[in-house]
Amino acid sequence: MAEYGFGNPEVIQEEVDILIIGGGMAACGAAFEIQKWAKGQNLKIKLVDKAALSRSGAVAQGLSAINTYMGENDPSDYVRYVRNDLMGIVREDLIYDVGRHVDDSVHNFEDWGLPIWKQPGDEEKSLRGGGKPVRSGKWQIMINGESYKWIVAEAAKKALGMENILERVFIVRLINDKNDPNRVAGAAGFSVREDKVYVYKFKCCLLVCGGAVNVFRPRSVGEGTGRAWYPVWNAGSTYSMAAEAGAEMTMMENRFVPARFKDGYGPVGAWFLLFKAKVMNGMGEDYSTLRGDIIKDEKRFGKYGMGVPGTCLRNHIMLEEMINGRGPIFMDTPTALQKLAEKMTPKEIKHLEAEAWEDFLDMTIGQCGIWAGENIEPEKTPSEIMPTEPYLLGSHSGCAGIWVSGPTDLPGVPKEWSWGYRSMTTVKGLFTAGDGVGASGHKFSSGSFTEGRICAKSMVKFALDNQSWKPELERPVEEIVEEIYRPVRNYLQYKDYTTAIDINPHYITPKMLQFRLQKIMDEYVAGVATYYRTNGKMLEMAEKKIEMLKEDSLKMRAKDLHELLRAWENYHRIIAAEAHMKHIQFREETRYPGFYYRMDYNFIDDQNWKCFVNSTYDRKSKQWAIKKVPYVQVIK
Ligand code: FAD
Ligand code: ADX
Repeated sequence: MAEYGFGNPEVIQEEVDILIIGGGMAACGAAFEIQKWAKGQNLKIKLVDKAALSRSGAVAQGLSAINTYMGENDPSDYVRYVRNDLMGIVREDLIYDVGRHVDDSVHNFEDWGLPIWKQPGDEEKSLRGGGKPVRSGKWQIMINGESYKWIVAEAAKKALGMENILERVFIVRLINDKNDPNRVAGAAGFSVREDKVYVYKFKCCLLVCGGAVNVFRPRSVGEGTGRAWYPVWNAGSTYSMAAEAGAEMTMMENRFVPARFKDGYGPVGAWFLLFKAKVMNGMGEDYSTLRGDIIKDEKRFGKYGMGVPGTCLRNHIMLEEMINGRGPIFMDTPTALQKLAEKMTPKEIKHLEAEAWEDFLDMTIGQCGIWAGENIEPEKTPSEIMPTEPYLLGSHSGCAGIWVSGPTDLPGVPKEWSWGYRSMTTVKGLFTAGDGVGASGHKFSSGSFTEGRICAKSMVKFALDNQSWKPELERPVEEIVEEIYRPVRNYLQYKDYTTAIDINPHYITPKMLQFRLQKIMDEYVAGVATYYRTNGKMLEMAEKKIEMLKEDSLKMRAKDLHELLRAWENYHRIIAAEAHMKHIQFREETRYPGFYYRMDYNFIDDQNWKCFVNSTYDRKSKQWAIKKVPYVQVIK
């Protein structure tokens, strides 16, 4: 064992009052806010992130817009917008709550040094001071955001104190309370740099590990492996750990299939909204004008295709072009830039072209690599657009996640949507925000940060209300440590059985297991291989294969700490994937055409399915229980 330098981890046990798991936008929001409420209360608060706070999570590379800023808009209107985009089924109480609080977060970002674009003449004014932002869309404002995460993390670190932040610790499991199975009492994980396992006990925790990426076989394979749009580091930890702790999940059938610049995964928002670019098919046709009416087929799409089409319906129109042989799809960047340049001076035109590059330099630098590598000058050459592999997330244009307790002061909200502490899941002491919260998308970076702040307040209240309560772990620490290090044991025990370390009848490498998961999801659960199409029988096949994969996951090996990380990420992905598959199986309609199609029920069925689908997982029996929960419209 010693020759490998790891295998006998030091076990560090600590008791805190509140543990924040994750270091992204939601976690930073909580870290920034929490000391205000905890001041003078003698609470011990800690944050653990699998990576380094300054560059972790979805905002790692920076962003070029803040997609949720109310400004002159009314939060009720924001609810209508999100509801329309997510095909009618959302928790309007949660969305309204984000809407009414989000602007203060954006104002803070600016105070901390984030450059926000202003209208001519307002450059010197802050948003707080009445400066008018440059809006790309009704809800989005433009920023110079390469250092966005760095800036936000700095504020979080300053507020919480670096001594209360532990980086590079991957949390593997939540641990329920010994005396109350519906309560969390702790969490355990390991250092990705040192041979150490961490076991925490707490009164409550915030689980904010982002969404799930690399669950499906990505379009970028072979030499492009590793490129994805959403952050590769977020591996479904939020969903799997919550589900295994018994939390009720919601809308896990939902996914986001973003249309992106092909191969580099560059986002499209700035091009559509700010530069007013159009997309065309391989024949040079403006297909959305020519054939956009296909979504007005009421039998198939209900009323959803009549107004402003939601993101999935825009995808549907594009997919029809591709499936019917009219691809590839192009973003007509030259025409857009030429139109904008019509009234510009040469200097202004240069600036405009620089902005076209900066959009990606600030957010998805790999796309600039593609442009440079393929000799693409956006003012001269159109770029290909492609729908990507599916992602599971709750903060962007999707709404997969966990069912949480909502605000109590809004009229018309069902009583059962709120059970004490805002943002607490159905498991006592377990809170979530950002990508973790289901049925309420379009929060983006600013909304996720805001939800983290909302959680901070309610978690402090929870901790104070439970001051005399002592957490007791349901399982012995030794058993937890052994479980976490099982992939290491598999390796050390069997490595000498063969001469090639990757080939061994006793273990499977995390990489191979990931390929298996991605193949199953791609081919049976509506991945790119089938143009996002599936049916009941295909899902039945997926169900069996995932079950076997889950069994085989116990055989993953870890020859070093990096593989141990990969092994547990995969485990988290499998549980998130299973939830997704089970929900699609349960919902017998096609609620999100363009994101996925149930070909055996290829229509929207409001009569039977305008409802939430919620599930719970029993970690011991490994069974899912799924049910319908009524949707209630709160905002007219
Ligand atoms: P994240 O910010 O992703 O944070 C997740 C955190 O969890 C990370 O710190 C990660 O290291 C940690 N973690 C994961 N697993 C574990 C584990 N097991 N143990 C411990 N820690 C763990 N929003 C906008 O407003 N405007 C935009 O222009 C915009 N563009 C985007 C462009 C791209 C390319 C991407 C990927 C996202 C974009 N977004 C944009 C969306 C925005 O970034 C997300 O909505 C937001 O970051 C979600 O916040 P979160 O806290 O839920 O997750
Ligand atoms: S990003 O977050 O990775 O930059 P994206 O560029 O798709 O994502 O979206 C940014 C914002 O623009 C989101 O609010 C999204 O809903 C919006 N958006 C993107 N494309 C369109 C479009 N064609 N019409 C309207 N809104 C759009």
